[in-house]
Amino acid sequence: MKTVKPEVSRRQFLKTSGAASLMCSLVPGLAVAADSSVIRRTIPSSGERLSVIGLGTSRTFDVDSDNVVTSPLMEVMQAFFDNDGQLIDSSPMYGSAEAVTGALVKQAKNRQRFFSATKVWTNGKGKGIEQMERSMQRLGVEQIDLMQIHNLRDWKTHIDTLVDWKAEGRIRYIGITTSSGRYHDELEEILLQLPLDFVQFSYNILNRTVEQRLLPIAWEKSIATLINRPYQRGSLFRRVKGKPLPAWTAEFDCASWGQFFLKFIAAHPAVTCIIPATSKLNHMVDNMAAGYGRLPDEPTRQRMIRLFETL
Ligand SMILES: NC(=O)c1ccc[n+]([C@@H]2O[C@H](COP(=O)([O-])OP(=O)(O)OC[C@H]3O[C@@H](n4cnc5c(N)ncnc54)[C@H](OP(=O)(O)O)[C@@H]3O)[C@@H](O)[C@H]2O)c1
Repeated sequence: MKTVKPEVSRRQFLKTSGAASLMCSLVPGLAVAADSSVIRRTIPSSGERLSVIGLGTSRTFDVDSDNVVTSPLMEVMQAFFDNDGQLIDSSPMYGSAEAVTGALVKQAKNRQRFFSATKVWTNGKGKGIEQMERSMQRLGVEQIDLMQIHNLRDWKTHIDTLVDWKAEGRIRYIGITTSSGRYHDELEEILLQLPLDFVQFSYNILNRTVEQRLLPIAWEKSIATLINRPYQRGSLFRRVKGKPLPAWTAEFDCASWGQFFLKFIAAHPAVTCIIPATSKLNHMVDNMAAGYGRLPDEPTRQRMIRLFETL
């Protein structure tokens, strides 16, 4: 059974949200009638819709790019597009991942809705421009959908280039990323200052720090969110290894621990797109299934946290 979650309206969310009580503001009863469409979220700055499950490429796609289209990663990529995947997140920091992504996407069927996201990760204006031009070549695109400043690196310099590139149509959206709590205060300041379309940070059932400040600020500033490390680099699976999934998880169409972790995140109204990374076909199919069906309501999310804490 597959259902679509209705988006919580911005007004409805803001009415009940406070920075410290974000969790309580989630609307109960998100689960609705059965449907087979993928869950999509709206990018606030444009109104464009994006599938809630995307794809990360750190480590998993850092392989030899030469014959990658004949490797098992080709099937992994094909399953992503066959299940309505759109956004793929990469970076020049991830070795050959941009080139591997470009080669696989070029060969994939059903790739019309591909949404390219990568990053600038260097110091200085000139080096930033060179790096972004190289990323376009590696990804095989003439326009990058989302260009993000990686780990806040030299953001005061790169932001001017990104604003210019967006005006020229070389990129469509501007973003900034971190995966470290030590940058959260600075990131908060940046969200209040810069003309950002997206912000990316870590959020999962174990690491919920962003519920306090960053998710509410992103929501209030109408900035789309990308969620990295949804599996805490895979370590969440070690905690649930050999443990049965409780029967009540079927109430939100959850059939695996992977879907449990992703649906927990996807049910947060300020989340736009989650980017789990995988190198395995069965894991890709599992991850994409989390983008369909019902999502847990807020009391159920609290139950999920309580369960996880006992494991
Ligand atoms: N500062 C930044 O900008 C920043 C920082 C961190 C991450 N990111 C982005 O976020 C993405 C995701 O984060 P991440 O790669 O660090 O960690 P992650 O997505 O939390 O975890 C990836 C790990 O989970 C495993 N996995 C994936 N799906 C699974 C499933 N269904 N069942 C069991 N295991 C599964 C993968 O192994 P298998 O290959 O065996 O499936 C992989 O080892 C990155 O790839 C990157 O694009 C950005």
